[in-house]
Order: sequence, then structure tokens, then C-alpha cells
Amino acid sequence: MKTIRSISAVVATSLMLIPMVSLAGSQPNPEQDLKAFRQYFEQRFPNTPFKDFSNGSFAKGIGSPGAISQWQSMEEFPPYDFAVAKGKKLFNTPFPNGKTYASCFPHGGIGIAQNYPYVNNKTGQVVTIETAINACREKNGLKPLPWLKGDLADISAYMFSTSDGKAVNVKTPSTPAELKAYETGKKIFYTRRGKLDMSCAGCHTYHSGQRLRAQTISPTLGLVVSFPAYRAKWGALGTIDRRFIGCNKNTQAKPFKPQSTEYRDLQYFLTYMSNGLPINAPQWRP
Ligand code: HEC
Repeated sequence: MKTIRSISAVVATSLMLIPMVSLAGSQPNPEQDLKAFRQYFEQRFPNTPFKDFSNGSFAKGIGSPGAISQWQSMEEFPPYDFAVAKGKKLFNTPFPNGKTYASCFPHGGIGIAQNYPYVNNKTGQVVTIETAINACREKNGLKPLPWLKGDLADISAYMFSTSDGKAVNVKTPSTPAELKAYETGKKIFYTRRGKLDMSCAGCHTYHSGQRLRAQTISPTLGLVVSFPAYRAKWGALGTIDRRFIGCNKNTQAKPFKPQSTEYRDLQYFLTYMSNGLPINAPQWRP
């Protein structure tokens, strides 16, 4: 905790020094935010090719060469292959009524993950792949799956794997519902919370590329495009919510509920900020 505390002191000052994306007042302008945001990371990591940001702290020019080579060797024979194969099988297994998941998605659910999350303008809610999978189950008379790991993570990872290399393509928020979700997600990302009084941005923006204990803190650009991810620590695939919860707990902030409005809005904001990066999920993580 000592390291985290001292970082939190630095974060408080650096937040005042670099008002990268303004939080206060004025009209929301996601396009302008995106431009400023990208410029910030391109300047911060001049040796990292844009596409590499999909690899988080294992991108060229960000992590240590040793960590990157360990990651590369894990990616060669990835321990998540079985889980993705299981996800594929589950995805294609008919429900008792004879339908499959494919019936709930455009293009039968294949090669579409780059378009998520999006805002359903009728309900005003952010739709993630995970909420769509569970909505599909409920529509077909089945119970929803637990959000953080297991079958849901496997099915989601399979769906993401069919979009491998496709550019993240979240529609620019423009309707009132989209702008509301975007602004809420952005606010959550920049707001300091918890006993350690830290924001996500405090680490993943202003301290990205720096070491925290044994790990290099990954930049916000690309933060979500490797999920669901396989963590050695979990010994399994986990969804993005599982990771959000972990980071909240590490800073002694009360996590939100999995797939709550807060986490979905946060994911929506972060994914929009990663527009154009190639999907590379799942990935191995320590
Ligand atoms: C005290 C610093 C700290 C704070 C605050 C923090 N994180 Fe993290 N986070 C880390 C570290 C360290 C890791 C593991 C290394 C890395 O960044 O990939 C990590 C990993 C992640 C990852 C996985 C990235 C990947 O490629 O595997 C995501 C996603 C993430 N954090 C999101 C968040 C969000 C959202 C918040 C705010 C709710 C947050 N973090 C707050 C330190 C922090």
C-alpha cells in the first residue's frame, strides 16, 4: 500500500498540471476529447506504434523487454485456447427451444464485437457483448449467466476472437442518450474515489508506463480491447468487470456491481477512446 499511497500524492498534483480532457462545464465533445486523448498518448509513448496499444503494458515501447518477451511466449501457446473453444461450443449449442445465440445478433454474432458497446437509444442503456449474451438467454427462456467468469467469459471471448484484428468501431456519441452515457463513463474514469482517493486516470493516464510493484501500468488508450482476458492470477478468463472490480478494490474503493450502469458507461467511454485499435482479445495477463 505504501507505493500506492505515494503515487496517489503525485497523482493529485499531476491532475492539476495536465488538464488533458476537461471535465467541467461546456458541451460534451467526444470527438475533440478523442483527438486530445490520442495525442497525449502518442506523445507520451513516441516509440509505440498505434496498433500496439491494443497490447496494454506489453506494447512495444511501454513494458520492459523482459515482460514483453514473457508475454510473447505465453501468446504463442496461449492457455486460453481451451476456454475459447469451449465458448465456441456453447455459442453453437442450441437452447431447449432449438434457437442459438446466433439468432440474437447481427451477422449471427460473428465478427461484430468491434461494434460494442453501443447505446440502445430506446432504453438509454449501454449494451455490451455480455449484456447482449444474457439478454439472449433470457429471451429464450434461460437463466442469465454469472457476469465475471466461466461460461459467459468464454462465450464473450469466443465472440471477440471472431473479430480479431478488426478495428474498434464505437459510433461517435451524438444522441442525448449516447452523450449521457459517455459523460457518465468519463466522469467515473476521472473521479477520485475510495480510501486512497484515486481515479482510474490517476494511474492509467498520468502514471501509465510507470512501474507499480512488478507491473507496468497500461495506458488508457487500449485499456479495454484485450478483454475478456486470461490472467495467470485467475487461472481462467475473466470479463472486463472482473478487472474493473480488481482495480477498485486495490485502491480501496467500493466496486460497482458487475454490468451496472456505471461499469457499462465506463466501458463505453473507454472503448470509444480506443476506436481504431485492432481487437486483440483474449490476451494473456499475469
Ligand atoms: C493504483 C493504480 C491504479 C488505479 C487507480 C487503477 N488501476 Fe487499473 N491497473 C493497475 C495496474 C498496476 C494494472 C496491471 C497492469 C496493467 O495496467 O495492465 C491495472 C490493470 C487494469 C486493466 C487491465 C489492462 C490490461 O491490458 O490487462 C484495466 C482494464 C484497468 N486496470 C482498468 C482500471 C479502471 C477502469 C480503473 C478505475 C476504476 C483503474 N484501473 C484504476 C493500476 C491501477
